Amino acid sequence: MARTTRTPRVDFVIVSNRLPIDAKPTADGEDQWVTSPGGLVAALQPVMAGREAAWVGWPGRADTELAPFSLDKTHYVPVSMSEQELAEHYEGMSNATIWPLYHDVIVPPEFHREWWDSYTRVNQRFAEAAASVAEQDGFVWVQDYQLQLVPQMLRGLRPDLRIGYFHHIPFPPYELFAQLPWRQEILHGLLGADVVGFQRVADASNMRQAVRRNFGYSMNKPIVRVPVDARLPRDPHAPPVTASKTREVRVDAFPISLDQAAIVEMATTDSVIARSREIREELGNPNTIFLGVDRLDYTKGISHRLKAFGELLEEGTLQASDAVFVQLASPSRERVESYRELRDDIELQVGRINGDFGHLDRPAIVYLHQNMSREEMMALYLACDVMVVTPLRDGMNLVAKEFVSARTDNKGVLVLSEFTGAADELDQALMVNPHDIDGMKEAFVAAAHMPVAEATRRMAELRATVEEHDVRRWATGFLDAVTPHTPKPRR
Ligand code: F6P
Repeated sequence: MARTTRTPRVDFVIVSNRLPIDAKPTADGEDQWVTSPGGLVAALQPVMAGREAAWVGWPGRADTELAPFSLDKTHYVPVSMSEQELAEHYEGMSNATIWPLYHDVIVPPEFHREWWDSYTRVNQRFAEAAASVAEQDGFVWVQDYQLQLVPQMLRGLRPDLRIGYFHHIPFPPYELFAQLPWRQEILHGLLGADVVGFQRVADASNMRQAVRRNFGYSMNKPIVRVPVDARLPRDPHAPPVTASKTREVRVDAFPISLDQAAIVEMATTDSVIARSREIREELGNPNTIFLGVDRLDYTKGISHRLKAFGELLEEGTLQASDAVFVQLASPSRERVESYRELRDDIELQVGRINGDFGHLDRPAIVYLHQNMSREEMMALYLACDVMVVTPLRDGMNLVAKEFVSARTDNKGVLVLSEFTGAADELDQALMVNPHDIDGMKEAFVAAAHMPVAEATRRMAELRATVEEHDVRRWATGFLDAVTPHTPKPRR
């Protein structure tokens, strides 16, 4: 890749907490850029392909000042964070306050004023960095919950810009959102955008309700009329705003997707297909391979699904001699207390189930706490019989869509939690409530024994859905909403 250090102003800027590439020091002390993990990168890559654009984000290491640089047509603008900001903005406010609050308070959110101050400071830094690279009248697309204040801050710095914000995780019902001591600041921050996009219709409606309850702005779904001189604080008991000078903010659903063609290309290579056969062999050619692929996160419902699997073994409905559960749990947010506790809990549970039901040559659960290459992941999708995607709450869940996309053989069954954004679209999956362990057990058994004709029909429909609603449609829909003149993703 051609690397330069020139950073021109461009008319298309992405802002996300992490850059799509992480700086990793090599043995000789030089930085090497490697693709950073996560669904956001995979989703935005096709949008960026071949276009002159800038990407503003944190380079994955604390206390590191890096100069902007360019690789091919993308200009990277690293935003630094101190060790303390990493602890307070990223691990604290983003991942120990907002993340659990927005995911149904599965673990209790913590509210700390120092974390909020740090979140505000870091958001301001991101807004300034974006303002410095965006061309006059350009478009800036802010991504996700770590940066909810950026749209308004950016509007203050650069009123000429068109600003989009996309929220990748759920937006909670008002009764939960209202717990946030800084709820008005967050809403005000988001309303700085021209379009605020969500995964589900329900998320968009939750935000509009929060705006109505806090600010009383008039709206005509999905448009909210925001007074141009909106300031905080605002008294929630004040009468509805009737100011004549308003700007329109569209608060709407734009469910994210993936590049199915790229997945198909990877999943149909000879080496991936051969590897999938090898995996089945290595697992002892059991009748049924169940597969879970997640970040190790308490929202993913890993322990609920392992409990269901363990009970099926205990009752003898399944035998470890002919059924195996492969659970890939990639390391995530390892310095946050609740994630450390989760790891201990899951590993204890896996150990117990394997201790009770495993054989010398074959554990009941193959548990891998590691990152895996995309190719190996594709081979796992092809090797399994039942893909188990059972989060307690998830904005979208692209693993479900990846699995479906990879199964060009129209085989395999998807068991899907109704609490994922994906459930709104993938209605041919076996839908489960992950809190209902008996219901989940029934779904596992039904999936393992599903007649081939039914499985094939369901998979073909699932694949057609993802093909039709792929990532280009997501990006095009969003960009059209922001401005009909924004350049579109390339084919
Ligand atoms: O789902 C939200 C998200 O921020 C993704 O964008 C990202 O891939 C994942 O969570 C992990 O994020 P991080 O490791 O930066 O906390």
